[in-house]
Amino acid sequence: MHRRRAISHSLPQWPGGFRANSYSYLLDSKLLSRHGLICFCTISLLLYITLFHSFNRCDGSRQKNPSPKRRWQSYSTDTTDTGVTTTEQLKGTDSATHGFSLTLVIRMAAVPKLVQRLYCIFLRSCTLFWSPKLGPVSLILDKESETDHQFARKLRQQEKDLGLKFDFLYEPLPDIASGWTKHPGYQRQLWSSFFMDLFINASIIGVTDSDAVFTTPVTPENIFNGHRLRVLASTNTKLMHARRGWYKPTLLAIGKGMVADFMTYFPSYVWRDTITNCRNHIMKHMNVSNFEDAFRNLPNLSPVNVIMNYAYYFEHDRYDWHLDFTETLEDFNAHLPPGVSINASEMEPDVHVTIHESYYKKRPYPLLQGYCIAKRYVGTLPASCLKFDNVTNFQLFEFQTGRLRREHLSPGTWCSGNGRRECIRLIEAHYQNVKKYHKLGWYDLDLRRMTAVEKAARQENITCPNIFQLD
Ligand SMILES: *[C@@H]1O[C@H](CO)[C@@H](O)[C@H](O)[C@H]1NC(C)=O
Ligand SMILES: *[C@@H]1O[C@H](CO)[C@@H](O)[C@H](O)[C@H]1NC(C)=O
Ligand SMILES: *[C@@H]1O[C@H](CO)[C@@H](O)[C@H](O)[C@H]1NC(C)=O
Ligand SMILES: *[C@@H]1O[C@H](CO)[C@@H](O)[C@H](O)[C@H]1NC(C)=O
Ligand SMILES: *[C@@H]1O[C@H](CO)[C@@H](O)[C@H](O)[C@H]1NC(C)=O
Repeated sequence: MHRRRAISHSLPQWPGGFRANSYSYLLDSKLLSRHGLICFCTISLLLYITLFHSFNRCDGSRQKNPSPKRRWQSYSTDTTDTGVTTTEQLKGTDSATHGFSLTLVIRMAAVPKLVQRLYCIFLRSCTLFWSPKLGPVSLILDKESETDHQFARKLRQQEKDLGLKFDFLYEPLPDIASGWTKHPGYQRQLWSSFFMDLFINASIIGVTDSDAVFTTPVTPENIFNGHRLRVLASTNTKLMHARRGWYKPTLLAIGKGMVADFMTYFPSYVWRDTITNCRNHIMKHMNVSNFEDAFRNLPNLSPVNVIMNYAYYFEHDRYDWHLDFTETLEDFNAHLPPGVSINASEMEPDVHVTIHESYYKKRPYPLLQGYCIAKRYVGTLPASCLKFDNVTNFQLFEFQTGRLRREHLSPGTWCSGNGRRECIRLIEAHYQNVKKYHKLGWYDLDLRRMTAVEKAARQENITCPNIFQLD
């Protein structure tokens, strides 16, 4: 309980910037601190490093822009920066994604730490495992930041070498930001999460983070079940109901108690209009005429939890739910709001396609293991991959390790006990799909793509840690 104060004190008041999704760990750490003072220093340090150290911006103060109340058209992107796309890309997208357009979305700013992560963590894996046939990568940047625009121009020039298609979108600093005296970058990130629909045209938004590593080639089956979007959750009931956790603000925002913790997987695929509907619902529920008034009254918010819990209650059948927890179904349901219960059909295991690198410390490094195992299914194993000859890729059931663990291998969860065999079956089935799309030319698993990312990073004076000892 002293922690919050301690964090605020240790916080440099950066002029802006943020780290997407870091806020999820504030809660975990808070709860942990109750278990003793020993954790206190470690966690404060951890929080400082993860949550705020990376926020540092070098480009000084920001100008203010109107908040995004208007339709997205009024925020059209730099014409020089877009323009190139659409018909060709959409054709590929349509057939691969049931006729819907899809894009991966990262909300970031071009601060050194995030640019480093984008190249070395996200892009290196994306270029191997994300097929442009599924859709482009959209970066939502800060409109008022010249650094962000410059960064986008450079990345645009590298599209061809990296084999990826980028869309750059610029979000103005909202009016409400003038009231953000504490952690403005963090607040902006939270705020932005409720307005992605204003910047993205695609009907499906795959929300991800610059420090998410793809661990396997992504197939349409990882995204869709029929016309429904797959949702994974890994819920720690104690954390969900923690006093200063997300339960209360979620309840305040949508008028419904949380069913599960959805801040546990990437990408989080969400129908674009779910975000619109959720925002409108919040305003109606809170009886306010603009979102600023709602947002001001929702401290310690987890946007993905608000949006996906909204989806669970109000758009249930547009999504394919895969909820995991350590309790029995009966015990889990006993903690849900009266009249709400999940059933066995919503508990079926499903594979992850990323781990969250800043919170995943196990080795082998998942990109290395993911590459070697994928190669095994689509051709001959390179000599440097021989130790993966007989490895089952259980990293597909992990997301984070350590104290902030989110995974499906521990006692009571999907792959424990008798569940292990079903998880192995799902991993195998996934790689059979990978094989199929590899044959269709969706991925080539050519490490020269990674080398191209590393080269582009070096032009930004970024040296990515070595992953592969190439043959
Ligand atoms: C979104 O669609 C509109 C109208 O169809 C178009 O003008 C705009 O350029 C599109 N934006 C992106 C980022 O594709
Ligand atoms: C909603 O707010 C308006 C104006 O602030 C007020 O007149 C009205 O009674 C409120 N409605 C409810 C249901 O609280
Ligand atoms: C579980 O819920 C789903 C979706 O709400 C429903 O279609 C199904 O019939 C339910 N199954 C059982 C066993 O109640
Ligand atoms: C993998 O299994 C095969 C067949 O059981 C065996 O011949 C091979 O040596 C194993 N490879 C490794 C690296 O253990
Ligand atoms: C990289 O470092 C070199 C040498 O210190 C410098 O001249 C150059 O401007 C830097 N480039 C970037 C993009 O920071």
